[in-house]
Amino acid sequence: MRTREKKTTRSVQIPRARSGHSRQRQRLIDACISALHIYGPSRTTVEKVVAIAKMSPGIVRFYFASKAAMLVASLQFLAAEFEEQLLVPVMRLKSRPVAALELMVDLYLDPEIASPRKVSVWYAFWGEASSRQEYYDICGQKDQSFAVLVRELIEQMIIDTSQPQLDPDGIALGLIGVLEMLWQDFAFQNEADIDRPSAKRRARAYLRSIFPGQFSSSSLDASAAAGSQQLAAWVYCNARLFAMERDYLFADSWQFVGLDSQIPLTGDFLGVDLGVERVLVVRDTTGEARAFRNSCSEAPHILNPAARGHVESIQCTVHGLQYELDGRRRSADRAAGLSALELRLIGNLILVRSADHDPHASALDSWAAIPGLAEVSSWGMAVDLAIAADWKLVVEQWLVAPPSGSAVARVGWSARLYASLAASFASADWQRHFLAPNQLVEIRPDGMTIFQVLPVAAGRCVLRENHFSRCAEERVAGAAQYLASRLSSFGRRASITMTESTQVGLVTLGHEGSHRARAAAADFRRYLIAGVPAMARIRAPTDP
Ligand code: FES
Repeated sequence: MRTREKKTTRSVQIPRARSGHSRQRQRLIDACISALHIYGPSRTTVEKVVAIAKMSPGIVRFYFASKAAMLVASLQFLAAEFEEQLLVPVMRLKSRPVAALELMVDLYLDPEIASPRKVSVWYAFWGEASSRQEYYDICGQKDQSFAVLVRELIEQMIIDTSQPQLDPDGIALGLIGVLEMLWQDFAFQNEADIDRPSAKRRARAYLRSIFPGQFSSSSLDASAAAGSQQLAAWVYCNARLFAMERDYLFADSWQFVGLDSQIPLTGDFLGVDLGVERVLVVRDTTGEARAFRNSCSEAPHILNPAARGHVESIQCTVHGLQYELDGRRRSADRAAGLSALELRLIGNLILVRSADHDPHASALDSWAAIPGLAEVSSWGMAVDLAIAADWKLVVEQWLVAPPSGSAVARVGWSARLYASLAASFASADWQRHFLAPNQLVEIRPDGMTIFQVLPVAAGRCVLRENHFSRCAEERVAGAAQYLASRLSSFGRRASITMTESTQVGLVTLGHEGSHRARAAAADFRRYLIAGVPAMARIRAPTDP
């Protein structure tokens, strides 16, 4: 990539599709990128774009003033994506340059950023940048931000490894050149022909040749672990990975926090600890439920530790700072208020997420599609069980559990009693719906349970069972829920003991599990690796 004069890195959010309007616009941008890949900027026409998008020609005018504006919007989209998906995550690891460079190589050569389609479009724009100032500015900005980041990381590596004789500019330029050569290869191949693990190995070999001992080839061979469908033991007990999971798997996932009916009045609130996020849900003066990070804006301590209650305003007890129920700070100056989280209602259920990234937007649809979910309105209880095992092991056990409903077919007094109670309910089905990364909804004749496995630290988690009942009578509800919990293996002591024992076997004793995971568990592991590519490694990345 070309290096231009220094410009500051902007904080850019990929302009994602949320409303129908922006979805249409995004569809045109996607089609435009495909057209650019096939025809190049000069031969891309509005007609070709709408043909790919399967939309009518007139609609383009509604979203873009001209073809040129559409091309610039497409290039801006790619630049924002590059920043959000590569520069920002790598910058977060800047204090640990080995980890940052490893992640940079992973992400730079990842199909999400470096598909043949996208790479060829970048080069196509660069080809016309000499005659189009906007193209030059956008492409130059992206390359410059990347070059600055590489230079900083290499410089830090030189300091950390005490090799002052090395030239950071030359080494950074070398790495950028290696990556660009690999991109050029990608641009002329089909995705099926690209050997990405090999490309990543070559990039790391360059780094290893300059910083011996810092970048180990065997521990970074992602393909081996991914192919075996098994994750290495370190993945279940690594503090650094815990932080990456929080940022890349949990931040933009919709998490259940409670019921709308639990906070009927202005000032009513729920405080929910999700392990990776502390949430405060408050009913504001307009009657709207709002979600905030439960953290003072002055210092990141918990603002309100209660699980539920009523307040007139939100107050920090340490220095008395006060916030309105809509999160604004009560002060003459316009000081920062509370950090807002996204909140959605599915029927009576409140779902919250910390960040807004498109890949998980469809997860809300998955919640909404669960039959019977919106109908359950009566609250039962929430139970937390501490588990001395990694949250991923709990999920894997869920996914290999017997199919929905089979538990009720078991003989035994619990099954017989439950069957007699269930006969009075309209629904006879048991259903399970897994919502990645960490929630499982079990719908039963007597009600439902939302299981949440909440990471609290590397190798430790909490299993939260949120029980709901269809039964009007509390005594029957309690009995049915108790029997159901005996028939459903998830929260049972034996199941938890087995998970904890598996953790010990994997992590403490170094025993290997089967390489042949069941399909659902294998899918889950692929999902994890797609979200956090480092999980495919055989050994943990070494901290500097
Ligand atoms: S720490 Fe909250 S007001 Fe000072």
